[in-house]
Amino acid sequence: MKQLIIINGPNLNLLGKREPEVYGHQTFEDYFEVLKLKFPKVSITYFQSNIEGEIIGKLQEVGFSYDGVILNAAAYTHTSVGIGDAVKAITTPVVEVHISNTHSREDFRHHSYIAANAKGVILGFGLQSYDLAIQSFI
Ligand code: DQA
Repeated sequence: MKQLIIINGPNLNLLGKREPEVYGHQTFEDYFEVLKLKFPKVSITYFQSNIEGEIIGKLQEVGFSYDGVILNAAAYTHTSVGIGDAVKAITTPVVEVHISNTHSREDFRHHSYIAANAKGVILGFGLQSYDLAIQSFI
């Protein structure tokens, strides 16, 4: 069975409450249950942190044994050389995802420190971006 992990960065624990016009009304915990039911033949775990170093630690922990990482580093996407370096350092392929289309938003959201070392990038499809990322691994 393929082993995937979804890693969400800062403020994504507030999905459902946070700017629903941008990020929708569903909590990630609820959506994660939908994903697990939709992909019963894949083992998917979920990790969220608001702390940059914890995200780097998780990437290092899973990044030499898991089959895939689905990473929404949220605001750290645009600021974190450390997370970008961790994605480069590990051997597990990483798909970068975003709920919103970051290219249609403020200029500072147009740059990603992750994209250059990601297997691919999926953005702008709402929570379905995670679904599409899982499909890319199977
Ligand atoms: C986000 C986009 C980022 O620019 C933002 O900082 C987030 C969420 C998204 O999923 O659309 O927190 O990664």
